[in-house]
Amino acid sequence: MSAHRFAFLGAGNMAAAMVDGLLAKGGIAPADLSCRAGSGPTAPALAARTGITLAGSLAELTASAGTLVVAFKPQQLAGADPALAALTAGKLVISVLAGKRLARLAQTFPAARALVWAMPNTPARIGAGMTAWCSRAPLSPADRATVDTLFGALGRALEVDESLMDAAAAVSGCGPAFLFEFAAALRDGGVAAGLPPATAQALASETLLGAARLLARTGADPEELRRQVTSPKGMTLAGLDRMAARDFRGTLRETVLAAQARSVEMSKET
Ligand SMILES: NC(=O)c1ccc[n+]([C@@H]2O[C@H](COP(=O)([O-])OP(=O)(O)OC[C@H]3O[C@@H](n4cnc5c(N)ncnc54)[C@H](OP(=O)(O)O)[C@@H]3O)[C@@H](O)[C@H]2O)c1
Repeated sequence: MSAHRFAFLGAGNMAAAMVDGLLAKGGIAPADLSCRAGSGPTAPALAARTGITLAGSLAELTASAGTLVVAFKPQQLAGADPALAALTAGKLVISVLAGKRLARLAQTFPAARALVWAMPNTPARIGAGMTAWCSRAPLSPADRATVDTLFGALGRALEVDESLMDAAAAVSGCGPAFLFEFAAALRDGGVAAGLPPATAQALASETLLGAARLLARTGADPEELRRQVTSPKGMTLAGLDRMAARDFRGTLRETVLAAQARSVEMSKET
């Protein structure tokens, strides 16, 4: 069995992003992938759309792959089939469940060869994801290569200590939603200033994209880039002064801390 065969338990948005990424740039064929979910439509739909195998049972799913990717909702872990304990013996198990720590995963997958907890984000859908991940024990070179194949197909990845996962998830896992909110606010500001909504939307989203690219390409500190476009007594400064007066940074800081706190809370739910 190929170590690079992946079985997906859960076939919703995140599983679909991973499957799409693997097929697009992971050098993986549909025959190397399989999926299974609950009684809803997602697994048959994913299999029909991508040509991957729809497993008829959990046993069939796990037998087909060296790696099981767990991608259902965190609340569904408590009701997971107890047979998974034996079916994942000797397998690499990679969970993307928010807030479910490695010790909790080990209760459901006690005999797994290795356990990984990862937090991808939705830009993974277009290969521009950022995944933070950690493992229960140091990975073998082969398992590390498998993890690199999966997350490399989604964009970039960063291994972090498990103690940092709640914080990392708050920044990169939730970050896209915070930026979409920023984009909507920038658009609404443009509308308030008199722009037609479609014009405001185009200006806001292209600006966000261009600024993000500039940040990534230059590798510069964002504050330095901000300084470069802020002239004394200019219009940017007029706007930034208002952001500071309304404590924009403090709001974002509280936003990240609230998301981190929710992750900690979720880790205490069964
Ligand atoms: N979205 C994100 O940005 C993001 C980022 C990082 C991590 N995650 C994590 O990714 C996971 C999935 O999120 P999502 O956005 O992909 O959710 P989703 O689109 O709602 O998909 C949930 C999947 O779970 C399946 N499922 C339901 N009951 C099941 C069961 N008993 N056994 C196996 N599968 C079952 C559903 O299948 P049916 O069609 O059969 O109901 C569906 O395929 C979550 O744990 C979340 O924390 C998400």
